[in-house]
Amino acid sequence: MRLTGWVGGLLLLGILLWSLPTPTTAEPDPVARGRYLAERVGVCADCHTPRLPSGEPDRSRWMMGAEVDFKPVHDQPWATHAPALAGMVGLQEQEVVHLLMTGTTSGGIALRPPMPRYRLDREDAEAVVAYLKSLKH
Ligand code: HEC
Repeated sequence: MRLTGWVGGLLLLGILLWSLPTPTTAEPDPVARGRYLAERVGVCADCHTPRLPSGEPDRSRWMMGAEVDFKPVHDQPWATHAPALAGMVGLQEQEVVHLLMTGTTSGGIALRPPMPRYRLDREDAEAVVAYLKSLKH
């Protein structure tokens, strides 16, 4: 029997789609990648999460902003408060992506230490922002 016309076409299309390799990446979920980068690499919570009296980060106020409880010995520009990041409330996505990619605001201004100047690539910066957006606020 010859397969002709649309039946044959459909069959060929089906075989073609079925045989295509499934695209895979190491970390397909940007929120999961952002969590890994924020929690294990950038350790944002060290400064942006308040601590319990025991010194442990307070999981119930994760990334909800905290006082910076250490200071440099010498006088220098210094921020004493690390703002809330959870849910990205009041923060502009593209502004935070820019900050994480360049270490400065889009106006070219560096935040005060101890905020580190990160140099993430765009994909990683966007993943961190996706993770921050996913956090309860
Ligand atoms: C060592 C402490 C520390 C760490 C670690 C840290 N930050 Fe910060 N961050 C700060 C401080 C302090 C400020 C406030 C700076 C200022 O007021 O000039 C700040 C400010 C920011 C701001 C600006 C918020 C606003 O209201 O404009 C963003 C966004 C931010 N941090 C994101 C992050 C992310 C994301 C990470 C992890 C990848 C991180 N920070 C890690 C201390 C820290």
